Amino acid sequence: MEAVVNGSRMAFDDVGPRNGPCLVLVHGFPLDRRMWQAQLEGLSRLARVVAPDLRGHGESELGEVPVTMDSHADDLAALMDYLDIKQAVIAGLSMGGYVTFAMWRRHPERVAGMVLIDTRAEADTPAGRENREKGIAVVRAEGSRAIAEDMMPKLLAPSSRGQEWLSRTLWEMMTRQPVEGVVGALQALRDRPDNALLLPHITAPVLVIVGELDVITPPEFSQAMAGGIPGARLVTIPGAGHMSPMEDPRSVNQALASFLQELS
Ligand code: MLT
Repeated sequence: MEAVVNGSRMAFDDVGPRNGPCLVLVHGFPLDRRMWQAQLEGLSRLARVVAPDLRGHGESELGEVPVTMDSHADDLAALMDYLDIKQAVIAGLSMGGYVTFAMWRRHPERVAGMVLIDTRAEADTPAGRENREKGIAVVRAEGSRAIAEDMMPKLLAPSSRGQEWLSRTLWEMMTRQPVEGVVGALQALRDRPDNALLLPHITAPVLVIVGELDVITPPEFSQAMAGGIPGARLVTIPGAGHMSPMEDPRSVNQALASFLQELS
């Protein structure tokens, strides 16, 4: 499905009943909504599940608006307006987690709950920002394949790498992202704010999920986040890496389903 959101065409999936809770799934970098296939299939009996491609990713236009975590959050709020959704549980993986924090900062009245998956609260370190700069130059010179080559070895736990379809799906998703979308995402990642000071002020119900073997946002970041947010719960997915919702969809869906059921 598609809608024009803040002046640009946004692609999204929207499945499940209209009269129950709503879950909005926000993908990571440099990915798109196809990473949520197992959640769209597994949770659509329980909830209305909406999974957009963020601006500049997948089938969504980049448009003219400067891309930031805040502009992504404004797009999500506008998409919720379009779909007549007043409140939703916002669940984001990694970069999607940064967007979830931005939703809380900018549109708290739309947030029924937050699920922070394989992500962190902190902004980039100076070295991290420098790496984003290098990434921007490399992508401009060599295309999205260069970023895919850099990310691929870090996304999955060793035991998941044996699932050939998983590596293939991620590779195809990453190599097909439009170059200007990847550049915009790297700039937004580089410039994102530090959310660490926000943690004690979050009053929405929060679930934190992390793959035990995540090397991009290791479990200690999730432990610190869950420890810093009043009432937040932490679920660690044994044997999974950074892409826990794809690597172990059963366990992640179970955690999401329990959270949704508790809220409704
Ligand atoms: C992601 O998985 O979304 C990114 O790796 C996040 C990041 O680079 O900070």
